[in-house]
Amino acid sequence: MTPLLRIDSSARTQGSVTRDLTARIAKGYAGAKITHRDLAQTPVPQITESWVTANFTPPEDRTTAQAETLALSDELLAEVEAAETIVIGLPVYNFAPPAALKAWVDNVARAGRSFRYTANGPEGLLTGKRAVLAMA
Ligand SMILES: Cc1cc2nc3c(=O)[nH]c(=O)nc-3n(C[C@H](O)[C@H](O)[C@H](O)COP(=O)(O)O)c2cc1C
Repeated sequence: MTPLLRIDSSARTQGSVTRDLTARIAKGYAGAKITHRDLAQTPVPQITESWVTANFTPPEDRTTAQAETLALSDELLAEVEAAETIVIGLPVYNFAPPAALKAWVDNVARAGRSFRYTANGPEGLLTGKRAVLAMA
């Protein structure tokens, strides 16, 4: 079975509709290698000025500190790259995704890695994957 990345972001662990949905979907991938990120229980940090500076510095020019600043982002992005299916639990909080989920998106949206800028606007580079949004 194809590798699956399961993302949860509901602050609730009890009675969460999106957690129930992502769990049920993941069950349908029995035998798949499943990586689970629980962004509510183990939040990823918001990106910072030093993160942005490091990200826009070409990899070969980055200092050791800049590489360290991007280490978690690299790990999160590697999980996305390795997955063929990505299941994302998306609760609506105040008409928007939870901040915990947005922080993850900011960490994996990397120009030159997961998307690139073109004359026609941004273009995704992680093709051939299936993403399932489990919204409530
Ligand atoms: C802090 C908070 C803000 C919410 N804001 C909205 C909202 O703007 N619109 C909406 O339709 N539901 C809103 N809801 C309801 C949730 O979307 C709903 O409870 C959903 O089931 C949350 O996902 P979960 O069950 O996985 O926790 C809100 C719930 C919470 C806890």
